Amino acid sequence: MVIRKIVENVFYIGLDDDITEFFEGIWPLPWGVTYNTYLVLDEKIALIEPGVREELAMRYISELESVVDLSEIDYIVVNHSEPDHSGSLPLLCRLTKAKIVASKFGVNLLRGFYNIAGERLVGVSSGDSISLGETKLRFISIAGVHWPDSMVTYETKNKILFSSDAFGAFGSLRGAIFDDEIDKTFYLEEAKRYFVNIIGKFAGNAGKAIDSLSSVDIRIIAPAHGPVWRTDIDLIVNLYRDLSNRMVRDKVTLIYGSMYGFTENLAIYIAGRIAEKGVEIEVFNVTHTHPSFTMASAWDSKVVVFGGPTYDNDIFPPLLTHVDYLRSKMLKNKKYALFGSYGWSGKGYRRIQRTLEELEWELIEPIVEFRGAPTSDAKRKADELIENIVRAIKG
Ligand code: FEO
Repeated sequence: MVIRKIVENVFYIGLDDDITEFFEGIWPLPWGVTYNTYLVLDEKIALIEPGVREELAMRYISELESVVDLSEIDYIVVNHSEPDHSGSLPLLCRLTKAKIVASKFGVNLLRGFYNIAGERLVGVSSGDSISLGETKLRFISIAGVHWPDSMVTYETKNKILFSSDAFGAFGSLRGAIFDDEIDKTFYLEEAKRYFVNIIGKFAGNAGKAIDSLSSVDIRIIAPAHGPVWRTDIDLIVNLYRDLSNRMVRDKVTLIYGSMYGFTENLAIYIAGRIAEKGVEIEVFNVTHTHPSFTMASAWDSKVVVFGGPTYDNDIFPPLLTHVDYLRSKMLKNKKYALFGSYGWSGKGYRRIQRTLEELEWELIEPIVEFRGAPTSDAKRKADELIENIVRAIKG
């Protein structure tokens, strides 16, 4: 548990979660995740984000009590009702008399999740505000980032944006919470993986939300996960803007699976030749990689190359899983290439082709399929494919 002062009378109270293995039961957390909450002290007291997963609630609340008398909290602002933020709300409702402030959509969700009494709940619209004394909290809808209920809370005196899932990142903070205290490269990578996997399906909404915040004078971005940005705010804003606009780089992502090394042999050959031609490439072996990482890489790549052997007259199943994840996020309009080995019958790649056609991806030819180990003929065909991939990148 980490308690830090953000500015005078505004505190960060966050919990590093290094126990949960998979966020939402899906996304691996090899470096953990934080649940960030914030306390604003004025004539009235507000807790922004009510906290943490239900199983961590007792730990959170005992730390919260070390900073504030729970009976003095006037408002608990729920920017987003997903249980990673609201799990401690039922307990807080019992221990405080605070009004629970959420978007109108959020109020409905909270009623459904926790059966909270109607008189405790205050539904707000975008643009509404409440006064705490010297400072005000203004609420702005960011519906779709990540759920329809999502909103941000803007604190007017210190110009702090409590941004909920927006501008969030995976990765525990372990005491260093500000962007000028951390390894920014690491957290920006984990912010990208967070964005693509958690918010990516609704990237268009994220773009609109960022645009709607452009007229707000923001000095500090305080998200619900990951670092608090006070020095290089543009780094996280620009990352989120580029990702939500689905900006691509001159980059190839190569995702392959291999049973006995035949397909891997050609994967490494293709990757080496592409790198040799000065094109950035990221390479993933699906046997050892969760789709959350390949999706994050594919998101801003111009070209994605898939290599997999035919398996049981179909494609190598772990490779198909990665393709299915891409479909689940509706990652559209990219270029792709296919290669792979077979034993006695091939064309397992057709299932990948069908899925990517649905997503309106454009095939770069030729498809390089070979029996057993890659032959010199397969390598000649691969050379032709590599030329076409490089042309697709460089134009
Ligand atoms: Fe951090 Fe959408 O919950």
